[in-house]
Amino acid sequence: MVEICCIGAGYVGGPTMAVIAYKCPSVEVVVVDISKPRITAWNSEQLPIYEPGLEDVVKKCRGKNLFFSTEIEKHVAKADIIFVSVNTPTKTQGLGAGKAADLTYWETAARLIADVSKSAKIVVEKSTVPVKTAEAIEKILTHNSKGISFQILSNPEFLAEGTAIDDLFNPDRVLIGGRETPDGMKAVKALKDIYAHWVPEERIICTNLWSAELSKLAANAFLAQRISSVNAMSALCEATGADVSEVSNAVGKDTRIGPKFLNSSVGFGGSCFQKDILNLVYICECNGLPQVANYWKQVIKVNDYQKTRFVNRVVSSMFNTIANKKIAILGFSFKKDTGDTRETPAIDVCRGLLGDNAQLSIYDPQVPERQIRDDLSKRKLDWEHPGHASSVSFSAPEQVSVVTDAYQATKGAHAICILTEWDEFRSLNFQRIYDSMPNPAYIFDGRNIVDVEKLRKIGFVVYSIGVTE
Ligand code: UDX
Ligand code: UDX
Ligand code: ADP
Repeated sequence: MVEICCIGAGYVGGPTMAVIAYKCPSVEVVVVDISKPRITAWNSEQLPIYEPGLEDVVKKCRGKNLFFSTEIEKHVAKADIIFVSVNTPTKTQGLGAGKAADLTYWETAARLIADVSKSAKIVVEKSTVPVKTAEAIEKILTHNSKGISFQILSNPEFLAEGTAIDDLFNPDRVLIGGRETPDGMKAVKALKDIYAHWVPEERIICTNLWSAELSKLAANAFLAQRISSVNAMSALCEATGADVSEVSNAVGKDTRIGPKFLNSSVGFGGSCFQKDILNLVYICECNGLPQVANYWKQVIKVNDYQKTRFVNRVVSSMFNTIANKKIAILGFSFKKDTGDTRETPAIDVCRGLLGDNAQLSIYDPQVPERQIRDDLSKRKLDWEHPGHASSVSFSAPEQVSVVTDAYQATKGAHAICILTEWDEFRSLNFQRIYDSMPNPAYIFDGRNIVDVEKLRKIGFVVYSIGVTE
């Protein structure tokens, strides 16, 4: 029986290992983490992350060939294949602060693998890392290895949150990078055999290590670039009378461009896009390529601009003052079907509104109050000037209330800001909501999900992204 151990039971490690266990009954999979509460949650009825379909998969395999444990050393020592799926946040201090990836967690994991291993191992990079990380990891492993053979593979994960299980069941591609030596190729084959249990062979791409590492950063940069491109167009649409959804529909019909991932929004969020682009920018700068670095920086700048524009539109539409006005915030997670708030545009939008002294009433179906308050009180990292710990942290908790349904949030509010495209916001009883709000009642739809005509008939003043009012 092949034994797999995954270090890191987060948004990537947890779902990925659950699906491997589900699709490969003959493989034993143990997911380990330093966080006891996380592992306890994975072993309970209430999983630590919300992801449609995940619970079902976990329940089918847990206790059979899928285990969650904090006994890291024991399981690493036993495994044939070790996935490393620990977090790689942006460095906040020192060389490369604001842009470079912080590999502390990775290095700790690598040293532990070197310390406890007694047999040959395949070590798989699963978390997104800078190009050439595999080389650094290889050094740590081989310099401490007491003669044990380690093969490093890069196998970046392309799942998107909210659709993780579908993405894992039916991936566009699986990418495996390895050394082009006989041992390297043998290791690639061993990992390929795991995925071949359910992924058609032509979708499993094998490359060299550096191509695999760079492809992950490139894919996220390209995806984010599409959103910044369409969001930049949305500003021009608002100024000219064009409608951004008509423009993106027309543009996306060109098969060379394609229709997906062209929805204009209040801005992209999530743990990957900004972090990976900053990483790419840093790598370009380190390699003497400032023009390339500047090109990609612009994608983040447009995203920041989009969030600022949204706040400005709210304030200017409401007679230039929102001080002490109640504003309902519908949705706080960075996209629907996840409770994850990492880099969510809602953080910057809420801070902007709070900066103008609004009273916010926030509702999200999956994000707990503690998380929202925590996110709003953290200092924001200024990636361009990491030395000057940027914008002031928000320190007026009484300006914010977090509530448990959309009707409570909107009752008595002067305006509603929709910041996440949760399905339940499409089917709200807007007449009931309108009747509970003072006039004029505003809706600022940051995700373009409401039926504008219908709401205008009720009496709302509606603003959508990329459309003149
Ligand atoms: C992304 C990549 O899609 C995935 O392949 C990679 O493995 C991790 O990063 P994720 O961040 O989970 O996945 O979600 P994604 O669906 O890509 O959305 C990212 C952000 O872009 C969200 O805030 C989303 O609302 C926004 N978005 C997406 C838009 O604003 N418009 C779109 O058309 C699509
Ligand atoms: C373009 C648009 O494709 C077309 O829809 C529009 O109506 C007019 O402008 P054209 O300039 O004739 O058409 O040719 P196109 O095939 O788009 O190529 C433009 C340039 O891009 C060429 O120099 C081509 O060599 C280059 N190119 C294209 C690349 O370098 N890489 C590619 O992958 C594709
Ligand atoms: P991602 O979105 O990349 O999966 P997460 O932050 O959700 O990132 O998950 C990373 C997990 O890795 C966390 O649960 C964290 O506790 C765990 N982790 C970090 N360092 C180590 C380590 N050295 N050993 C075991 N687990 C670790």
